[in-house]
Amino acid sequence: MSRCLPALAIAGCAAACGTPTPTAPVQPIPFSHEIHAGQNQIGCTLCHAYALRGPVAGIPSTARCNGCHKFVATDKPAVQKVNQAFSAGKPLVWERVYFLPDHVFFTHERHLAAGLRCQQCHGPVETMKVTERVAPLTMGWCLGCHLERHAPTDCLTCHK
Ligand code: HEC
Ligand code: HEC
Ligand code: HEC
Ligand code: HEC
Ligand code: HEC
Repeated sequence: MSRCLPALAIAGCAAACGTPTPTAPVQPIPFSHEIHAGQNQIGCTLCHAYALRGPVAGIPSTARCNGCHKFVATDKPAVQKVNQAFSAGKPLVWERVYFLPDHVFFTHERHLAAGLRCQQCHGPVETMKVTERVAPLTMGWCLGCHLERHAPTDCLTCHK
């Protein structure tokens, strides 16, 4: 929604903005959270390693993928593509699913320290075959929870 005027309703966005950003963008590798975080119960922060200690959660490098996939599912074409990218020293360029405009400050660390779970903002990611944006990321969305949880709502909290 960040490319839209904030006054516009989400429904009006596609028409008004010309190129609406997809909520579930096509990725360079068909990466499934359902397989990794669901069926195989790999913890979120094993891959998104910075979420607990910084503003940005981070996307795992191909080296991290390769750490498992030099052994696991090496017969699968998509896995071979990941391992080839790693060997060639080429990063996989993932399309962003969640993003805010530059004038908004957000940090994962504080939210997780306050006891929130990933799923409260990102939905049931462990059931998703394709990662999909479930939150509108509007100012109203942030403020709604801040009011409910007695978190700060002064402008400079989020606008530096
Ligand atoms: C902690 C280990 C681990 C890491 C790290 C990991 N994977 Fe996997 N991955 C698995 C397991 C386990 C499976 C399921 C294998 C199976 O069912 O045979 C899997 C399956 C896959 C598959 C095949 C899905 C299918 O269609 O069956 C792809 C593609 C894949 N992973 C991509 C990635 C990418 C890209 C990364 C890095 C961003 C990554 N994996 C990181 C463990 C891992
Ligand atoms: C095996 C590694 C791995 C695990 C485990 C994992 N993720 Fe991911 N995650 C990725 C990769 C790779 C991407 C980029 C591709 C995509 O968007 O699907 C991603 C993308 C995301 C995104 C979207 C990022 C963006 O572009 O805005 C969110 C949100 C997310 N993961 C949350 C979670 C949560 C919550 C869990 C635990 C339930 C989890 N992830 C577990 C590897 C992983
Ligand atoms: C309070 C809401 C909230 C919680 C809780 C939360 N996130 Fe996020 N997440 C966001 C927002 C908002 C963005 C977009 C941030 C931006 O563009 O600056 C984001 C972006 C991301 C991204 C992509 C950009 C990046 O930071 O690397 C990943 C991956 C991600 N979150 C994973 C997680 C994981 C894993 C957890 C739990 C450990 C989690 N998030 C908990 C709101 C949340
Ligand atoms: C699901 C509830 C929830 C959502 C959604 C949420 N927040 Fe928060 N936020 C909190 C809580 C709880 C705290 C922790 C307050 C504390 O540490 O006492 C917090 C703290 C923060 C802080 C640190 C405040 C400080 O004292 O420095 C920032 C910055 C922030 N949020 C920005 C955002 C932004 C921007 C969004 C929307 C993109 C957002 N939050 C969405 C619940 C939420
Ligand atoms: C909890 C976080 C948070 C707080 C507090 C907050 N904002 Fe925002 N604000 C946002 C987010 C997120 C956006 C981007 C929403 C979007 O693009 O739809 C935004 C967007 C805006 C915009 C639109 C900028 C543009 O793109 O044209 C203005 C203006 C604004 N905020 C002013 C304020 C003022 C004034 C206050 C204090 C009364 C305030 N905000 C408090 C999160 C916050």
